[in-house]
Amino acid sequence: MSKKTGQTSVKTVSLVKDFILPGGDVVNVLTGAKIEVKPGDFVAVMGPSGSGKSTLLNILATLEPLTSGDVFIGGVNLKDTTYKDQLEIRRTYSSLVFQSFALIPYLTALENVKLPMKLRKVPEEEAEQKAMQHLESVGLYGRLNHLPEELSGGEQQRVAIARALAHDPQIIYADEPTGNLDTHIGKEIIQLFKSLAKEQNIAIIMVTHDSESAQQTDRIYILQKGKVLIEKTKSSTKKTEKKEDLKK
Ligand SMILES: Nc1ncnc2c1ncn2[C@@H]1O[C@H](COP(=O)(O)OP(=O)(O)OP(=O)(O)O)[C@@H](O)[C@H]1O
Ligand SMILES: [Mg+2]
Repeated sequence: MSKKTGQTSVKTVSLVKDFILPGGDVVNVLTGAKIEVKPGDFVAVMGPSGSGKSTLLNILATLEPLTSGDVFIGGVNLKDTTYKDQLEIRRTYSSLVFQSFALIPYLTALENVKLPMKLRKVPEEEAEQKAMQHLESVGLYGRLNHLPEELSGGEQQRVAIARALAHDPQIIYADEPTGNLDTHIGKEIIQLFKSLAKEQNIAIIMVTHDSESAQQTDRIYILQKGKVLIEKTKSSTKKTEKKEDLKK
């Protein structure tokens, strides 16, 4: 798996995802979604509630199996990977950031960021040093020994992003990362993602309902009826799927 070269970080081809309900009913969530994201790309995924945005992120993060189609992570087809390979992808290649921050409440900011490194048996001193560097890189100074409840929402999200950086990921998946923050703080987090993508060449795929935040990204993928309907770039609007196709 390549390390932040020009190679594609994530690519999906004809991605289909159905959920089968206990009664046997089938929910067709993704019906041929197509996206391609490269190192350093900061992209937004938008779409109505229930359109499959979180499902798409969970599939890309290897937390949810796909029904059919292809997903390539760092050029590797998920179909060719074992459970162990997928665990390795989650541990070393990608990270998640959530709307709810998902910090461990009884650990300090520093301990929360150190935790994933501790689990990977990184020596204590190295973990501490790296955690401090990551906390600094997300602009959190002087709050290292605060518990999550002693931090503001924006500060908690910065800790969660520092934790996401702990294993030097190629990709960050962020599911509505500014959903619990006020507009001003949300904008700061978007700027932070923007600089992480450009300065550290990380691919960032962010689900958002906020079109102003989405405008700050390189591309916007809009999910509708299970497909990526339109890919908007800053300078142009290009249709990736013909409207007629969606009626099928
Ligand atoms: N485990 C599951 N079993 C059955 N259906 C599911 C499951 N998970 C999600 N769904 C369905 O798949 C659809 C897409 O859900 P998803 O959470 O991906 O939507 P979303 O676009 O993230 O919505 P929101 O903007 O509200 O977060 C929904 O109709 C949901 O009910
Ligand atoms: Mg969602």
